[in-house]
Amino acid sequence: MLPHPTLATRYATPEAKPEFVNRLFDGGAKHYDAIVDWGFLRSGTSYRHWVLKRHGLLPGDHLLDVACGTGLVAVEAAKILGTAQAITCLDPSAGMLAVARTKLPAHFVQARAEKIPLADNSFNFLTMGYALRHVTSLTETFQEFHRVLKPGGKLLILEVTKPTGPAAGFLFRLYFGRLYPFLTRLFTRSNEAQDMMRYYWETMDTCVPPSAVLGALAAAGFTAVKRDAALGLFSEYSAVKSNPLP
Ligand SMILES: C[S@@+](CC[C@H](N)C(=O)[O-])C[C@H]1O[C@@H](n2cnc3c(N)ncnc32)[C@H](O)[C@@H]1O
Repeated sequence: MLPHPTLATRYATPEAKPEFVNRLFDGGAKHYDAIVDWGFLRSGTSYRHWVLKRHGLLPGDHLLDVACGTGLVAVEAAKILGTAQAITCLDPSAGMLAVARTKLPAHFVQARAEKIPLADNSFNFLTMGYALRHVTSLTETFQEFHRVLKPGGKLLILEVTKPTGPAAGFLFRLYFGRLYPFLTRLFTRSNEAQDMMRYYWETMDTCVPPSAVLGALAAAGFTAVKRDAALGLFSEYSAVKSNPLP
């Protein structure tokens, strides 16, 4: 299952998507932290910290942070775990990983969520922050998440979700579709950074609804599948890999 239809204006075939997305994030990597910081009114760090705690990340856990990007989720997780050594950060973009490596001494893997080069039953917590739209298949991605988690392991996927009401939808489109890319260009003077934020909007606009994400998680074998939504916009998809029956 695709997270959004093929965006023909961006890449010609589904197979061409990973290379396109990689180039986009490599190009915008050095601006990413600043853009996210002011774009979300400086709430990003504290929100990531709070949401990890609320969903039960605890010292002693072994965490896989998929689509770690510049390490914004992993840095907050390390504060909770008391160590970065218990964290494996995975991302296909060399540019994003290079920034993350400067921030914490975690383990780093350059790979995609759809094909994780790590052993079965390795982690008891798995996070993915704001990257679900970038995979080529929700089905393959969730099967991989299920495979690498230990029985009883927890999954937490963060996303920004377009609101359904007309007024909120209008404001959301105005901000993410117009203002955010414009301000990104103004502040960074980078066409690549602006393009990254334009694509951010295009994928949010065309993303499958939360019900499809929840259905794909259940189909991959997860239990306790649910979505909480802070302010109706900030989706927190959580699920558990159940213990095998005795
Ligand atoms: C918007 S950034 C999110 C970074 C970080 N998780 C955060 O909370 O800010 C999206 C990240 O997803 C990564 N990405 C793109 N395609 C991916 C894939 N197929 N599998 C895993 N990560 C992917 C990008 O390289 C980028 O670093």
